[in-house]
Amino acid sequence: MEKIIIAIDGFSACGKSTLAKALAKELGYSYIDTGAMYRAVTLYFIRTHTDYTNPEAVQAALEKIHVQFKNIDQKNTTFLNGENVEHDIRQMYVSNMVSPVAAISAVRRALVKLQQVMGNDKGIVMDGRDIGTVVFPNAELKIFLTADSEVRAARRYKEYQDKNQVVDIETIKKNLAERDRIDSTRADSPLKCAEDAVVLDNSNMTQTEQLQVALDLTNQKLKTILA
Ligand code: C5P
Repeated sequence: MEKIIIAIDGFSACGKSTLAKALAKELGYSYIDTGAMYRAVTLYFIRTHTDYTNPEAVQAALEKIHVQFKNIDQKNTTFLNGENVEHDIRQMYVSNMVSPVAAISAVRRALVKLQQVMGNDKGIVMDGRDIGTVVFPNAELKIFLTADSEVRAARRYKEYQDKNQVVDIETIKKNLAERDRIDSTRADSPLKCAEDAVVLDNSNMTQTEQLQVALDLTNQKLKTILA
């Protein structure tokens, strides 16, 4: 069975990981959450008080960082130097620091290299900001996900509520807007829609509906490859 690379990019809290996870499960593909990798590096910088404006300190820290994913209780879980950091990397103090860290070219180089190795065998759904433009410019299917900013903030708010975490909606809105601004305007691989990406606005779609659209796109692509 032919396997492809599926790149899902888009703004913060658009539901990329929800779609990517569901799509990978349906197809029997691996799922890679590249945002989690940038978050893990950020967590390390915060914990070790790494001065991210100092290139030498950044390089030294990067050499000590090992990020991997493991399947724990059927969930894709992020590990930093052997420690399960899935909970910590989702906290607001990491969300507030991650975009400046992700704008550093040395950080991007290290993580992009790792992501490209992860995609070597194809059969992968990867979500992020630069997957279709930089990591896998030749990905067979590229989806650029968008959603209304109010809808995105409400979804992220619900996620925190479901985890019994108290974060007010205004703080979430500010964080999403600021990350989108930094991610779209940075010099190195800014967030943008690849020319050959399919744009999908899921503001008024259920998770089942968006999954169906993505599965249809995948099947069409596989048909053209096999034809
Ligand atoms: O996907 P998530 O919202 O968890 O990503 C966190 C941050 O990591 C983004 O706001 C962005 O700054 C950075 N990121 C990136 N490139 C990627 C994935 C994430 O710059 N491919």
